[in-house]
Amino acid sequence: MSNVRQRKPISVTTKPERPGDEDVQPNARWSLLCKIVLFVFIILPFTCLLACIVLIESPINPEPITDSLPEPPKLEGPLAQNDLLVFQGERLFEGQVIGAESIVYQSGHLYTGTADGKILHIDLMTKIIDTVTTLGPPPCGQIIDEKRCGRPLGMRFDKDGYLIVVDAYLGMYKINVASRDAFQLFPGSMKVDGKKLGVLNDLDIASDGTIYFTETTPYRRENFMLEFLEGRAQGRLLKYDPAENKTEVLYKNLYFPNGVQLSKDDSYLLICETSKARIIKYHISGPKQGTIEMFAENLPGLPDNIRRSSGGGYWVAFGACRDAERFNLLDKLQPYPWIRKQLAKIPARFLISTFPACTLIIEFDKEGNIIRSLKDPNGEKFSYLSEVHDDAGYLYLGSFIVPYIGKVNTYKKPVVG
Ligand SMILES: *[C@@H]1O[C@H](CO)[C@@H](O)[C@H](O)[C@H]1NC(C)=O
Repeated sequence: MSNVRQRKPISVTTKPERPGDEDVQPNARWSLLCKIVLFVFIILPFTCLLACIVLIESPINPEPITDSLPEPPKLEGPLAQNDLLVFQGERLFEGQVIGAESIVYQSGHLYTGTADGKILHIDLMTKIIDTVTTLGPPPCGQIIDEKRCGRPLGMRFDKDGYLIVVDAYLGMYKINVASRDAFQLFPGSMKVDGKKLGVLNDLDIASDGTIYFTETTPYRRENFMLEFLEGRAQGRLLKYDPAENKTEVLYKNLYFPNGVQLSKDDSYLLICETSKARIIKYHISGPKQGTIEMFAENLPGLPDNIRRSSGGGYWVAFGACRDAERFNLLDKLQPYPWIRKQLAKIPARFLISTFPACTLIIEFDKEGNIIRSLKDPNGEKFSYLSEVHDDAGYLYLGSFIVPYIGKVNTYKKPVVG
């Protein structure tokens, strides 16, 4: 052993004695210059930038996630890869309707809320779009205007024909779509249970008039990526009694509670927990009243809104996909709170672009089994979906960001040959 060690330095010292040694000098100077340039212009600024990022105070305080998401599901059975959304789908009103997060359909008319804070009425027959109302004062249209202009999200008609809307910032509204009067039921700044309301996201209305709604995160909507990165359960399920003007918290510590859908008999609510890729069931009445249980978990994407399907089950739109075949940053980062803390300092739009470009919607039966999935594997036709409205097999698709409404004809058969 010691022999081998001694031999090495000897062979090294003999090396410089080769001829032409003086030619190396300019080269060495050149390479020194290169190293200096590399250091001064690349390594030093990059290190400073990293140091600065680390020194900035993070807006979040993530914890290591103990019950991390399992490996995403395999693409088999009803989840098998397909391009049905591309083949059966079309874009409507392209460039005219931006970020139609939630859609309400009423005999040939659509109502939706858009990124510029408007509630729109769309006549599907005449293709005329008109503004029913805006909830906040103009000018609107930029993401920085959102807090003032509002961002209407979930909406439903109540049994008297008023459109009930939750706005991420401004609270809950009751809108007469004929007279265009909007009436604020409560403001977004209201405190419930000692805590100021965060992002209001979706609602459903029971036959007795009670409105159930979700508060997704205490952060502002434009910063929703923070909630994903933080990964804490800080969302709430609430109920609003319009007769008494009373709001109360039904369930706390939910993970990014998003879409809500009542069962037919109003005995339970289904709630999409977006950041946990699952749907839970909250019992409103019966022996399990006030408790939650799993409806569907380890889903192949991040579920947004949930609505009834014409087949008696439920449609869920996914804002992003997660499957075994694609790299997914959010899944991979779950065990690393320090990295998530640093990433939270980067503007959200860079992070959104790391979501895989694949799109899907899923139909569930009443028990939470997946009946079928319709996909656009490369996001060719649709992306960032948020809601499916099923009109007897014709599906209208909302999105929280893209500038169109999707329409899918589920009766259209593939052309063979
Ligand atoms: C309901 O109560 C809230 C909170 O006290 C209040 O801000 C709001 O104006 C009330 N709404 C109606 C319709 O009275």
